[in-house]
Amino acid sequence: MRTLREIDQLRSTLREHRQQGLRIALVPTMGNLHAGHLALVACARQRADIVVSSLFVNPMQFGPGEDLDGYPRTFNADQAQLTEAGCDVLFAPAVSALYPYGLDTQTRVHVPVVGEGLCGGSRPGHFDGVSTVVSMLFNLVQPDVACFGEKDYQQLAVIRKLVRDLHMPIEIIGVPIVRAADGLALSSRNGYLSSEERSKAPALFRTLCTLRDALERGEPIENLLQQGKVLLENAGFTPDYLELRDISLAPVNSTTRNAVLLAAAKLGPARLIDNITVQLPASQ
Ligand code: PAF
Repeated sequence: MRTLREIDQLRSTLREHRQQGLRIALVPTMGNLHAGHLALVACARQRADIVVSSLFVNPMQFGPGEDLDGYPRTFNADQAQLTEAGCDVLFAPAVSALYPYGLDTQTRVHVPVVGEGLCGGSRPGHFDGVSTVVSMLFNLVQPDVACFGEKDYQQLAVIRKLVRDLHMPIEIIGVPIVRAADGLALSSRNGYLSSEERSKAPALFRTLCTLRDALERGEPIENLLQQGKVLLENAGFTPDYLELRDISLAPVNSTTRNAVLLAAAKLGPARLIDNITVQLPASQ
């Protein structure tokens, strides 16, 4: 695996691969890799000849008071895992390489509607930061395909819309959530949990499963969402949102059948997110 820090090196390396007619896949990451990221690399490996992974803790997607400074940086371990997983190129630029003129006057990409509410409501500007850096990476790598985790369900929806609206010829693949044996969705932020908090954390997924089962039995949505918040609070979480949307993230209505239940909640220092799909019965 080649590790490249500079844009010019990345462009010239990928130009050669493209001239050979090779298909390129991109897996964007912020590092601190776990099995969820490795599933993205495995997915990319199946779909392309050359797998490029980026490792960049993107300051633009962190709000004031969020965990930019404390975000875990584990470069050597990440590099070793990517090599082992069969990644061909690791692009790990410095902040000054992607944002040489600073963040204040940086051109930003805004994806309306789908990026509003949910995490976009609680983290103003977050999806502009994600959309901007992902657009930049798409422009630099020009991948045929890019893989993103379904844990960040709203992020995936934002990126699908970005690619569609800007006519980028990139296939976006959503990769299923990878969970620990107790159900907790793998996340770099799980590392912020104390051992006591870690033992409480699976209650987030358990709550989603309980609500999904009740919704699929036809129980009314509003009561259930309220009960779900209480379940989370009783388990030690401070809920941020718990919402049912249709799978495109539009509000549900009486004709919605394919829905997704999405939650974000704080547990100690960690803000955890998770989601689960729900098949609503016709009588809903
Ligand atoms: O999901 C992430 O790790 C980040 O939001 C991404 C897509 C790498 C952009 O910084």
